Amino acid sequence: MNRVRSGWATRSGFYMAAIGSAFGLGNLWRFPFVVGSNEGGAFVLLFVLCVLGVGLPVLVGELMLGKLTGQSAVNAIQKTSKDRKSHWLWVGRLSLLASVLIFAYYSVISGWVLYFLMQFLVAPIKGESFDTAVLFKRLMENGHLQLGLTSVHIVLVMTIVAKGVREGIEKWVKVTMPIFFVLLLFLMTKSLSLPGSERAIRFLFYPDFEKLTLTSFVQVLGHTFFTLSVGMGAMVAFGSYLQKETPTPRAGFMVSGLDILISLLAGLVIFPIVFSGTVEAEVGPSLLFETVPLLFSQMGLGNYFGFTFFLCLYTTALVASFGLLEASVSNLVDRYNFQRGRASQIMGVVVFIFAILPSLSSSVLQNVTFQGLSLLKMFDALLINWILPISAAGICLLVGYKLPEKTVRDEFVDERLVDSHQLYGLWRFTLRWLAPFLIFGALVAELFDIKS
Ligand code: PFF
Repeated sequence: MNRVRSGWATRSGFYMAAIGSAFGLGNLWRFPFVVGSNEGGAFVLLFVLCVLGVGLPVLVGELMLGKLTGQSAVNAIQKTSKDRKSHWLWVGRLSLLASVLIFAYYSVISGWVLYFLMQFLVAPIKGESFDTAVLFKRLMENGHLQLGLTSVHIVLVMTIVAKGVREGIEKWVKVTMPIFFVLLLFLMTKSLSLPGSERAIRFLFYPDFEKLTLTSFVQVLGHTFFTLSVGMGAMVAFGSYLQKETPTPRAGFMVSGLDILISLLAGLVIFPIVFSGTVEAEVGPSLLFETVPLLFSQMGLGNYFGFTFFLCLYTTALVASFGLLEASVSNLVDRYNFQRGRASQIMGVVVFIFAILPSLSSSVLQNVTFQGLSLLKMFDALLINWILPISAAGICLLVGYKLPEKTVRDEFVDERLVDSHQLYGLWRFTLRWLAPFLIFGALVAELFDIKS
């Protein structure tokens, strides 16, 4: 299988971009509220096991698919199955659909982050602080504002992706990622000094398995794929830019490890605030916005810290969004010979159309619900708990059964490492049997749960 495109300028550039794609709102915004709604410890443990046992193998599989074919998702699958009409192409199409719809809903939340960023920017100028809960409520009631912020985000991402992978992503991530990490560590120490910290630590790390429900399993799988950016073709596209020398298993391992670390860090920042009793936070999409700003209001130079936090958070959302848009843009470029700029514009418009529904879901369309879920929550549940696991299972089976065994083994095994052959066996078993079995098992359990 030959490679047809240029690689990342540096290996660290790729690592940073892949980590940047994985590290985003999924860790800071979504992880805490799914942990909260699944009652803590047992879910957290399940999450860590799931990332290492299922997410990591799928991530390595996706990267490998891209690297070995040098193509984005649909083309990579076509090349692998050697048939233009193969049924496997549906896996690629599903992952593309997921990337477009998830980008639409991701842009809405990125718009919320932009809003808080602006508030923290003007607060020192106005010389006043604000009530976070009131602010959030006002934003939720204003659909036009949400739609406006969503489009600002989409246009920004579109413009940067149009400029190309290297230039767009590499420079950006290298600067902001370390700043954010240090800031999160600092916030964690602040948060852990609150009176609720002991209860928060117990909540996060003491596994009480009775708290898990059937739905928890599908939720943990969906969140794992979401947070690692798999099942959407993004990592196939990133893998296709990988240089020959960069080992995919190591890349996958780094991304997964860091992703777990940042998610736990986010939990340790948010839950002590919840348990300190100073805020009536709802365990849902508003959790991050109703808790973290409170820390800033209690510290000196709080507005500046708040601004830096939301600037870093917005940057991670932006960088993660590159991956989401890159998946479909690289597909148009590879498959239909579109120019990168044109492809970005087309996909930007498509994404904007899909984003209209979730951005109006708490205002004009607040009465449109399904089983009590608003449109935004419905987007979230359908995409992350259903479409992503199905698409990830397809990728597992494709890599496990259709990629030539020798090529895959040569790519995976590193003779310098003692356990490499055993790891390869385990990885292959996971892709061929374990992961598909767990995914379909969880989906069936979820179906029964919905019906009962
Ligand atoms: N993994 C990102 C997050 O945790 O926020 C979300 C994401 C980014 C998913 C990029 C897919 C993707 F291609």
